[in-house]
Amino acid sequence: MATPSRSGVFTQATDRRVERFTESISFDRRLYAHDIQGSTAHAQMLAEVGVLTPHERDQICATLQQIGKEIEHDVFPFSIALEDIHMHIEQALIERLGDVGRKLHTGRSRNDQVATDLRLWVRDALDRIKDGLENLQRAFFDRCEGDFEVILPGYTHMQRAQPVLAPHYWLAYCEKLARDIDRVKDCRKRTNVCSLGAAALAGTTLPIDRHDVMQRLKFDSVAGNSLDVSSDRDFVVESAFVLSLIAAHLSTWAEEWILWSTAEFNFLKLPHEFCTGSSIMPQKINPDVLELTRGKSARVIGHLQTLLVLIKGLPLAYNRDLQEDKPPLFDSFETVELCLELAAPLVAGAKLNREGIAAKLDRGYLDATTLMEYLIQKGIAQRTAHHLVGSLVNQAMQQGVSLAELPLETLQAAHPDLDESVREILGVDKAVAAFRSYGSTAPSEVRRQIEIWRSRLYQT
Ligand code: ARG
Repeated sequence: MATPSRSGVFTQATDRRVERFTESISFDRRLYAHDIQGSTAHAQMLAEVGVLTPHERDQICATLQQIGKEIEHDVFPFSIALEDIHMHIEQALIERLGDVGRKLHTGRSRNDQVATDLRLWVRDALDRIKDGLENLQRAFFDRCEGDFEVILPGYTHMQRAQPVLAPHYWLAYCEKLARDIDRVKDCRKRTNVCSLGAAALAGTTLPIDRHDVMQRLKFDSVAGNSLDVSSDRDFVVESAFVLSLIAAHLSTWAEEWILWSTAEFNFLKLPHEFCTGSSIMPQKINPDVLELTRGKSARVIGHLQTLLVLIKGLPLAYNRDLQEDKPPLFDSFETVELCLELAAPLVAGAKLNREGIAAKLDRGYLDATTLMEYLIQKGIAQRTAHHLVGSLVNQAMQQGVSLAELPLETLQAAHPDLDESVREILGVDKAVAAFRSYGSTAPSEVRRQIEIWRSRLYQT
């Protein structure tokens, strides 16, 4: 097929195998709406500078809209002979408008065109990811009041460490997601730069107005160097990194909740709508959504590696290798968007098994550090207090009792300053109440953090 990009220099048709090898329409058709958006702005600018007449501009814009509708409604024919989405739309325009259609590509190359389309697509996709992250933050936040009284064991090394309030856990995820949102917004800034008008690599001799195009497409600025911007895929790699870290955060949360929903932990009951059954074991309620959230993070993290390797050896400016950026990029966005979409209702619908958690909370000596700090406040050096409490824990373990249940004689044998007042800080509830530092799990601190988050997440 004669394509708009095959000039008179060619004397032979493209080999069929080359068509199959070089096509990108199978994946870049996702860019159609953004390609039409970019071409419309370009045509409007060409009319502003007198390259197109107002009538030609109107014909082009109306036909582009029509083509967009046909693609949207799945009645537009695609063929690998036309390589990519840009060629499909331009070819359709030429078929319908003849020479007027042939004018659209004035002062433009597919190199700046594809970069522009991709920036527009990524900009929208980043905005959707930001919305998904905010939804998930609200799902965690919305649990805080209802779960306020619940105390959970906090872990280090997966060993019971210190007690924490459940809302302290939920707000920990809000914090991680807030950093993710900051990174999304920051990445958006570097994405939102206009590459259109760089032409193939060096700019153009035609009287185009790049700032006009920038404004029409709501970009923040025009790229200052045509050579740089036609080769720049930093925003693609950066998006893949931002998405990888989101995927990693979701994966750690998924792992935690998979553990918490086991019979061994029994902290959490997952909503049945988000679980699947077993084809052979009738009792099974499997956490497949959480497992796939964890599993899909591997793909997203792998795509970041793919993209870095893709760009690392490319001399300036455009090289066809760059076409390979799209499958990993699209997949990263689509995967993380899906994970976020499922995470929010899953967080909202899970129920803490309060009785089960409370019944086992005195296991693991969660108040040992509180006792050590109590001794420090009595003037005992930290290392001495640390050793002393360790030996008390050892004795309690041998007797099969909690620290609060140790007889006064045992405590006083360890240190004469220990008297009955120590009972005021022993036991998990009292240990939680004893915290006081900024950002700690002290009930007053958690309450203060909840109010900060309430205004962050629900201010209008
Ligand atoms: N489909 C290509 C891509 O995704 C854009 C086309 C640029 N091709 C070219 N031969 N200059 O990168």
